[in-house]
Amino acid sequence: MAPAQAAQSQPQSPSEIFLDAVSVAFGDRHALSRVSVTLNHRRIGVIGSNGSGKSTFARLLNGLVTPTSGTLRVSGLNPVTEAKEIRRRVGFIFSNPDAQIVMPTVAEDVAFTLRGRGYTRAEIAVRVTATLERYGLAAHADAPAHNLSGGQKQLLALSAILVGEPQILVADEPTALLDAANTRRIGNYLLDELPQQLVLVTHDLALAARCDHVLRFSEGRLVDQGHPAAVIDRYANAVEHG
Ligand SMILES: Nc1ncnc2c1ncn2[C@@H]1O[C@H](COP(=O)(O)OP(=O)(O)OP(=O)(O)O)[C@@H](O)[C@H]1O
Ligand SMILES: [Mg+2]
Repeated sequence: MAPAQAAQSQPQSPSEIFLDAVSVAFGDRHALSRVSVTLNHRRIGVIGSNGSGKSTFARLLNGLVTPTSGTLRVSGLNPVTEAKEIRRRVGFIFSNPDAQIVMPTVAEDVAFTLRGRGYTRAEIAVRVTATLERYGLAAHADAPAHNLSGGQKQLLALSAILVGEPQILVADEPTALLDAANTRRIGNYLLDELPQQLVLVTHDLALAARCDHVLRFSEGRLVDQGHPAAVIDRYANAVEHG
């Protein structure tokens, strides 16, 4: 087995995500207000209504958004001052895989992640091939990335992130644009097979229910967290009763 594959097949122990009174303001709008939480679960679900602060929370974790105040550590690192190391350790996938494709072909796009990391061309080729095989994209290695279907593009986005072997994968509504079959495929992969720790932002409560721990945001506040079934139940109740 190639080293890249061997490294990815073992479940990894989760890192600690620590927030103490973290707020994020955009002008006078508070996207997050004094969020305090310590997370060390393997599968963390994030739910809540539109505009509640889920994406802002997710983006904090790899330095895409900066706290306005409060303390944030991911795996002991400050995502603002240790941004380069954080980008390497925390992978991020968006709903729209088109936004993440940076190179013309599938193999080039996956190889791009490994640039500047001290690998030889041959080492990169081995890792890219192993990753494309793992995600069922080997037959498309030399195809234009933009010709893939929506589900295949999301697999490519995952491949391009995971080839870099991050410790944590943050996924912001990764199944939002996918049909039922691809939602199941990507959802099953993320929840059952991904060796990395996962932070999954989703409106798909069936996916959230399969996490180990769920956070619910409302109007920029962390209003509930705990066992998925209980948190989802209380959310459904809150939605129903206004
Ligand atoms: N870059 C930004 N500039 C200004 N306001 C922003 C920015 N990003 C987010 N906001 C605001 O912060 C609040 C939280 O947004 P966020 O994207 O985190 O919500 P969300 O829970 O991910 O919503 P959705 O379910 O619709 O994706 C919203 O009121 C949003 O308008
Ligand atoms: Mg969002």
